[in-house]
Amino acid sequence: MRAWQVFEHGEPSEVLQLCEDVDLPKPAGEQVEVRVEACALNFADSLLCRGNYQEKPPLPFTPGLELAGMVVAAGPDAHHGLGTRVLGSPMLPHGGFAEHALARSHDVFPIFGTVSSTEAAAFHVTYQTAWFALCRRAHLQPGETLVVHAGAGGVGSAAIQLGTAVGAHVIATAGGEAKVGQCRRHGAEIGIDYDVEDFVAVVNDHTHGRGADVIFDPVGGDTFDRSTKCIAWEGRIVVIGAAGGNYAEARTNHALVKNYSVLGLNWGGYRSRHPELVAEAHDDLMGMWEHGSIHPLVSDVASLDELPGTLAKLAGRNSTGKLVLTP
Ligand SMILES: NC(=O)c1ccc[n+]([C@@H]2O[C@H](COP(=O)([O-])OP(=O)(O)OC[C@H]3O[C@@H](n4cnc5c(N)ncnc54)[C@H](OP(=O)(O)O)[C@@H]3O)[C@@H](O)[C@H]2O)c1
Repeated sequence: MRAWQVFEHGEPSEVLQLCEDVDLPKPAGEQVEVRVEACALNFADSLLCRGNYQEKPPLPFTPGLELAGMVVAAGPDAHHGLGTRVLGSPMLPHGGFAEHALARSHDVFPIFGTVSSTEAAAFHVTYQTAWFALCRRAHLQPGETLVVHAGAGGVGSAAIQLGTAVGAHVIATAGGEAKVGQCRRHGAEIGIDYDVEDFVAVVNDHTHGRGADVIFDPVGGDTFDRSTKCIAWEGRIVVIGAAGGNYAEARTNHALVKNYSVLGLNWGGYRSRHPELVAEAHDDLMGMWEHGSIHPLVSDVASLDELPGTLAKLAGRNSTGKLVLTP
């Protein structure tokens, strides 16, 4: 089968190779083989290629962290029958940027009705991340103020939609006017171009000096540091990632004085430690999707061959919502 492979770590454009004859092991135990219909891109795919991601699959590996497709082979203990359409996380090193991928049964979920593969592929990682961050870690409540950084991106747009569905007042930041417009269309009451405006002043002004109850931060660095200037008493800052390049060093004395919490979120960790919680989150999110309160935002669909260029778009701040590849 055709699959993108990484034989040595480095810049994605240099180390990704499209191979024509890659063998996939037969699914064992509860594993399933999925014929990939769509695979969505994540910021973490670039980190995986560079060897900078928390998970380091053995070389060579195929990246691609969320897919939709059909089960075409199953291990003896698999939970999904042949012909079932599923969405979810493939099992590295056999990721989704390929014609076929492997997955553990508990990492993929049946697709309801006639949902398209491209939307199904874009529904998993970002919405799960937003759900665990906002609902489980930060216990976001209706009526609270939520700030979402990089709100036009993958996890950011999911967090805006979910925060709005929960009944929070959402303020979103993004780089550039067009992205700020996207944040408003996703449901943010206020959008801030944080490249040119001081989001600290806007958030404090809007909350009459109280600050935001919850801040969702996939950017890190200076964005985290400045978030501590507009977090409310007993507020919660959830550390999602460091798309800006580096993680901030949290000033714990400042957290003490202002009585706020800094919460980490590693969604992948729940998949291995608490798959039952991932399933619970999935059911909750599916309910919201069916109800129409959240909806996957696919901004571009490209072919499998176009992976390096599409990944460069995402890593270079030139994408909104989700980018999806189809074989
Ligand atoms: N903790 C978890 O379990 C978990 C799960 C999923 C993702 N993540 C993390 O969440 C972050 C976002 O992931 P994603 O896949 O949803 O990507 P994304 O948001 O679609 O893209 C990243 C966004 O970050 C912003 N950004 C700010 N400074 C940047 C810089 N120097 N270079 C590149 N982007 C910059 C850009 O938005 P603006 O132009 O609007 O600033 C960019 O669009 C990543 O750090 C990822 O690792 C964590």
